[in-house]
Amino acid sequence: MLTLSFMLHKVLSKVGKMSSSSHSEAISAATLSRTIHQKARSTSYPGSDTKRTFVNDEQVPWSSNFPEYNPVEYTAPVVKKQPVWADADIGNSASFRSISFNKVDGLVNRQSFEGIYKIQERLPLNPIGRTGMKGRGLLGKWGPNHAADPIVTRWKHDTSGNKVIHQLSKKPILQFVAIQRRDTKEWAIPGGMVDNNENVSLTLKREFGEEALNSLETTDEQRKSLATKIDQLFKEGTQIYKGYVDDHRNTDNAWMETVAVNFHDETGESAGKLPLQAGDDAGNVCWMDIDADLRLYASHIVFLEKVAEIRNAHWKAN
Ligand code: BGC
Repeated sequence: MLTLSFMLHKVLSKVGKMSSSSHSEAISAATLSRTIHQKARSTSYPGSDTKRTFVNDEQVPWSSNFPEYNPVEYTAPVVKKQPVWADADIGNSASFRSISFNKVDGLVNRQSFEGIYKIQERLPLNPIGRTGMKGRGLLGKWGPNHAADPIVTRWKHDTSGNKVIHQLSKKPILQFVAIQRRDTKEWAIPGGMVDNNENVSLTLKREFGEEALNSLETTDEQRKSLATKIDQLFKEGTQIYKGYVDDHRNTDNAWMETVAVNFHDETGESAGKLPLQAGDDAGNVCWMDIDADLRLYASHIVFLEKVAEIRNAHWKAN
């Protein structure tokens, strides 16, 4: 039987593998536990009165015996209407049956970064385990729903242009471009969903442009000049994470996965000078100091911990 500590160990070694540095042991088990169905088991579901069926820590893995498990079913009305970004409902069996799981299926990537996921009674199974809800909730796709998170960073400088050093950790303070999401009001990395047939590197640039630079509401000329700056910045990135995300929208049959990439401006002369302006799904935007005490959307704090570690920047006061 898979225990929670075994799962923690599994995720810990996974983060270690994809890391470009060898300091992944520094990621604490407490931080990682947030990636193992904490948010994806919270009783209330965003935008709905439907409550998840209770699942305790030990009952999360599918391998743990839980014969009486009978999760509540919920798919949001907006998803059932089948907008372009959503699959057919299971009730619409002809279109539903044409979905090819675990493959690039026409324009949709239905492969998981976690490997082959199981299909049970025609439905894909969440690779981490139970969430207390079946259906798709707010997510459009059955199975993995892919997102991308651009983490744009610069060093914090004082008015004389010197790096600001944290008084207690004695390390320089790194800042990242943060947006405040309109949906949950939480601060977050300006990420977003990978569109059908879209390359992830394009999603990273597009989402950053739309949410942090308001590229949707600029003139053609401004857009061109911004595009050149963004192209420069996004030329070289360091992959921070690729995989399953503990997201409050996840269900037993639909879940979020993301690729988080750090684009760092060492001198502060390129990204550091971009004209930040919130747009699209973002209500506010700012350069935010990276610190362990930040409370952020989904698993974003875990990604920032990794960035601080790689850049040898301030993370915790002690
Ligand atoms: C967000 C990403 C986030 C992902 C998983 C997406 O909707 O835009 O920033 O990492 O969900 O939580």
